[in-house]
Amino acid sequence: MDSPFILVNLKTYQEGMGSNAHRIAAAAETVARESGAVIGIAPVFTEIHPMSHHYAIPVYAQHIDAITPGAHTGHILPEAVRSAGARGTLINHSERRLTLADIDACVQAARRLHLESVVCTNNDSTSAAAAALGPDYVAIEPPELIGSGVSVSKADPGIIERSVNAVRAVNPDVKVLTGAGIQSGECVKIAVDLGTCGVLLASSVVKADDPEAVLRDLVSML
Ligand code: G3P
Repeated sequence: MDSPFILVNLKTYQEGMGSNAHRIAAAAETVARESGAVIGIAPVFTEIHPMSHHYAIPVYAQHIDAITPGAHTGHILPEAVRSAGARGTLINHSERRLTLADIDACVQAARRLHLESVVCTNNDSTSAAAAALGPDYVAIEPPELIGSGVSVSKADPGIIERSVNAVRAVNPDVKVLTGAGIQSGECVKIAVDLGTCGVLLASSVVKADDPEAVLRDLVSML
């Protein structure tokens, strides 16, 4: 199996802005180097360029809009995300839902621009629908557990298993991540044992007093 993938979404948390964001990115770089895990970071858009140039970790956008260059004031242009140095992008995060047509257009834009696509879903049916679009990753996150401090791995392992099976049945090339309340090495191990290739998480790292210690714990059982 490839190295497990830990994708840290900084969202728009105050604790994930400015120097705090750089402290988390530096910690991720250190822990990734020492553990062999792949640790990516999804900062606010304005940090994509500095982070992708200063740290040897993959940087992801939190969203793209299904637009092409032109008159679209205030939108997130996939080409701009790519040229800022992003490796990939989240699409359809629970806090930034899109229509199915827009998800499809975003996945196609990402493919055209060689950006990895991580399509977030809320249950196994939407995981199957997302897999049909052929993204690189589907990330299953039960919305009610996001930011709750209760881990999907422990509270609802069934949704992970069903999503892995649903995605494999539709398109075995699509990799599966899971997220919501992920906070420890045990959560990550359960997710990987259930067939995912890693996790998407936020608050346990972003809001920690010592993000590096949490990152070390996350990779400790791999
Ligand atoms: O994008 C990750 C996210 O939605 C999960 O958030 O805070 O439950 O790890 P959290």
